Amino acid sequence: MKVVTTIAQLKKLVNAAKQANKTIGLVPTMGYLHDGHLTLARTAKSENDIVIMSVFVNPTQFGPNEDFESYPRDLPRDTVLAESAGVDIVFAPSVEEMYPTDGGIKLLAGRQATILCGASRPGHFDGVIQVVSKLFHLAEPTYAYFGQKDAQQVAIIETMVRDFNFPLVIKTVPIVREEDGLAKSSRNVYLTEHDRKEAPAIYEALNIAKESYKQTKDAAQAIAQATAHITTNTSGRIDYLQLLSYPDLAEINDQTETALLATAVYIGKTRLIDNLIFSLKGE
Ligand code: PAJ
Repeated sequence: MKVVTTIAQLKKLVNAAKQANKTIGLVPTMGYLHDGHLTLARTAKSENDIVIMSVFVNPTQFGPNEDFESYPRDLPRDTVLAESAGVDIVFAPSVEEMYPTDGGIKLLAGRQATILCGASRPGHFDGVIQVVSKLFHLAEPTYAYFGQKDAQQVAIIETMVRDFNFPLVIKTVPIVREEDGLAKSSRNVYLTEHDRKEAPAIYEALNIAKESYKQTKDAAQAIAQATAHITTNTSGRIDYLQLLSYPDLAEINDQTETALLATAVYIGKTRLIDNLIFSLKGE
């Protein structure tokens, strides 16, 4: 496995792979790898000749009062884990390498970015599509891999790929969870022992709402039941808990085929997100 930090080094490897007609799977990450990231890498490895994983804590997707500075980083550990998952090239650029100039040109995510995480993190998805579009140009992937953990992120990136004709296919991998249901996340290291005990209530609440909605088709009641489960079992604060159609992220109605039940909850100081995507037809 090679670890490269410059665009020039990466381009050399990508050009060689392209000349040899190899397929390239790209796995964008912000590092501090866990089994969710590694599942993306293993899936990419099983479907491509070469796997490129980027490890870059992207400053443009963090708000001024968010955790960019304190976001956990450990590149030596990440490279060992990446290699074990079959990654061929780790691309770990500096901020200066990725953003040498600020010419003021930005991508703007549309309607899908105004709700859920986008409502409480203004500009977040603009930063995500800025870095992801750069990574697409740099790695020239055949397939790019994203986790359903960030379902809104996947929906917005798919829109970008369609609207801007990126010549690649997005692949989505299901959420990898701890044994008690908590979705794996680099931010789980922020949880205190007390927080960690409360955190599984989030996934439990999503399941309660899903079953309730499937039986009654009453979205308000389903959301109320899930809210009650979180407020009874945690000291957390709900940022949002919503049932929408997926992937368009519009209001749910009788025609909706696939639903997204998504939540963000502050457990202690840590903002955790989780979701369920489920079919409403043909079951
Ligand atoms: P990061 O949070 O590091 O996540 C990298 C990828 O791993 C994302 O596609 C995310 O959805 C996926 N992932 C994280 N936890 C997961 C889990 N428990 N199960 C399955 N997949 C999981 O998402 C980002 O970084 C950034 O926004 C990025 C796309 C790299 C742009 O900077």
